[in-house]
Amino acid sequence: MADTYLVTGGMGCIGAWALTHLQRSGKRAVNFDQSSDRHRINWLMSAEQQADITFVPGDLRDTEAVKAVFAEHDITRVIHLAALQVPFCRANPPLGAEVNVTGTVNIFEAARANGIGHIAYASSIGVYGPPSDFPPGLIAHDAPKRPRTLYGAYKVCNEGTALVYYEEQGISSTGLRPYTVYGVGRDQGMTSEPTHALVAAVKGEPYRIGFSGTMQFQLAADVARQFILAAEQPLGGACGFNLGGGDPVTVADFVAAAKRVLPAAEIDVADNPLPFPAGFDDSELRASFGKVYETPLNEGVAETIAHIQRLGDGI
Ligand SMILES: NC(=O)c1ccc[n+]([C@@H]2O[C@H](COP(=O)([O-])OP(=O)(O)OC[C@H]3O[C@@H](n4cnc5c(N)ncnc54)[C@H](O)[C@@H]3O)[C@@H](O)[C@H]2O)c1
Repeated sequence: MADTYLVTGGMGCIGAWALTHLQRSGKRAVNFDQSSDRHRINWLMSAEQQADITFVPGDLRDTEAVKAVFAEHDITRVIHLAALQVPFCRANPPLGAEVNVTGTVNIFEAARANGIGHIAYASSIGVYGPPSDFPPGLIAHDAPKRPRTLYGAYKVCNEGTALVYYEEQGISSTGLRPYTVYGVGRDQGMTSEPTHALVAAVKGEPYRIGFSGTMQFQLAADVARQFILAAEQPLGGACGFNLGGGDPVTVADFVAAAKRVLPAAEIDVADNPLPFPAGFDDSELRASFGKVYETPLNEGVAETIAHIQRLGDGI
């Protein structure tokens, strides 16, 4: 029987792209999200394409509802993305822990109850502490994780949960740790401002990105495809990978990529480096997967601008 993919958080940015890629490749997808707001999905798919997807409204904190979606839709592949991002965890830590930590436990419990042997889930480079924790250069695959945000602490907890479910239940998992994701649909969260800047630039409006510094940018469409691959290719054990994506670049480089396409863009960058290391070594990811999706920055920014232009007043 053909696989059925469960995407949690499919109304979000990476999730909407995951659903889009699944639909485009003719794969059956079920979205589990507490939100019924399809604005990101509407930017990516026609109503006809959306009709191929099963939308199940539900709260990840509800253990029985999560188990039910696995059972009722014969789920065989899992891409667990739903979470509350940094600002939301900071604003309401207990809720952040319920969604991000208990919600992830619920996914593993549902997998156990339904005989699912493998899960792909979103971790984050937020599991790492500030640059002062590390020697210069790219951060190693096995660098110590000492997050300084609750969001990062919850993600570390999830990686621990994944390890225990592997050792005690034999459920393998692949956690991917994105850095700064950009692209159509990236409209909330701490590092969404570069994408907001592209939308403003297309509309001819000035925009100030509130942070600077050196980092790795990843195109949402690429990240989503890597999650699909992670769900399809169990690697054995509880694995975690930094997404990396080539040489680190500055926020100013991102703006320069936008100005190559839109020379009149008025994008300014505040002098406020983010407290994260500049870049992460992704050699383990490359060694483990046959394919790493990594659209070069200039191309990804140009593609995103073209997409925003096509959406016109719709974005
Ligand atoms: N975007 C990034 O730059 C980035 C970087 C690192 C890690 N990540 C991780 O990747 C994943 C996806 O990120 P994103 O940018 O698509 O997030 P997003 O904020 O755009 O979407 C998250 C989705 O989760 C859903 N959700 C929240 N609480 C829920 C609940 N209780 N029950 C069901 N659904 C719920 C929301 O409705 C939303 O649709 C997250 O786990 C995030 O932590 C993202």
